[in-house]
Amino acid sequence: MYPMPMLQVDHVSRNYNIAGSPEKFCVFENVSLKVDEGEFVTVIGHSGCGKSTLLNIIAGIDKSDTGCVLLRGKAVQGPGIDRMVVFQNFALMPWLTVYQNVRLSVEAAFPDWTEKQLDGHTRRYLEMVSLEGAENKRPAALSGGMRQRCGLARAFAAKPPVMLLDEPFAQIDALTRGVIQDELIRMWNETRVTIFMVTHDVDEAILLSDRIILMSPGPAAAIARTVDIPIERPRSRRSIIEDQRYYALRNDIIRFLENRQEEKTA
Ligand SMILES: Nc1ncnc2c1ncn2[C@@H]1O[C@H](COP(=O)(O)OP(=O)(O)OP(=O)(O)O)[C@@H](O)[C@H]1O
Ligand SMILES: [Mg+2]
Repeated sequence: MYPMPMLQVDHVSRNYNIAGSPEKFCVFENVSLKVDEGEFVTVIGHSGCGKSTLLNIIAGIDKSDTGCVLLRGKAVQGPGIDRMVVFQNFALMPWLTVYQNVRLSVEAAFPDWTEKQLDGHTRRYLEMVSLEGAENKRPAALSGGMRQRCGLARAFAAKPPVMLLDEPFAQIDALTRGVIQDELIRMWNETRVTIFMVTHDVDEAILLSDRIILMSPGPAAAIARTVDIPIERPRSRRSIIEDQRYYALRNDIIRFLENRQEEKTA
């Protein structure tokens, strides 16, 4: 018997009502996927194909019209500390400091801990993302990169079984993105949390993932196929570009995205 997947999306569909029309707009239909414990899976697809919608349904922030999401075999009913989300727009609590933002999720995840444990754990995760020294600043006083570091520290510090990342680096410049990707890899190595991540960036997906899910363009999007990334870990941006398999994978995915776009516009 196979072990139970950490996360299972089972025949999930999402439709929106169209104002003034009896017709419905179908974002995607019958999406099914599994993510094993400790796996790093990314989703790539054209803008509007429903990646964020799917991630939000897994997070329990949005509801599907058919199907269900299972976490260790149990149906997800709403948002929970067992699925921490990192959003593209950071979504920190603006009235709290960096320290307080991270500490809040530590307190929620470990309600029985002592003050010393809560403080030590919070500071350890701030250190992991190089935010020591900025702990008393509020989000408005931080750069985009620092805000996203804070978001990652907040999510990882809760040690959730599953992390959901929706284009966490999209608003960050390329150089800073590289540094934070390294921090993400480091934290993932340390915790081996199961990660489901949405990205537009093919190179980022190859660098980070065990598996890449390719979605066809919407409306009525679907999972077109899955690409396994066999490149051994640890990986770095420098080491993967020296790997012959990297170019074949990259071309395959880019060709998929281009062809699907042409099919849609033809
Ligand atoms: N509240 C809403 N009402 C109606 N349609 C919506 C609503 N929210 C999203 N949609 C539609 O659902 C589709 C999927 O949106 P979603 O944000 O999930 O796409 P995405 O793949 O994350 O895109 P991007 O890559 O641009 O972030 C889009 O066509 C969008 O217009
Ligand atoms: Mg999106």
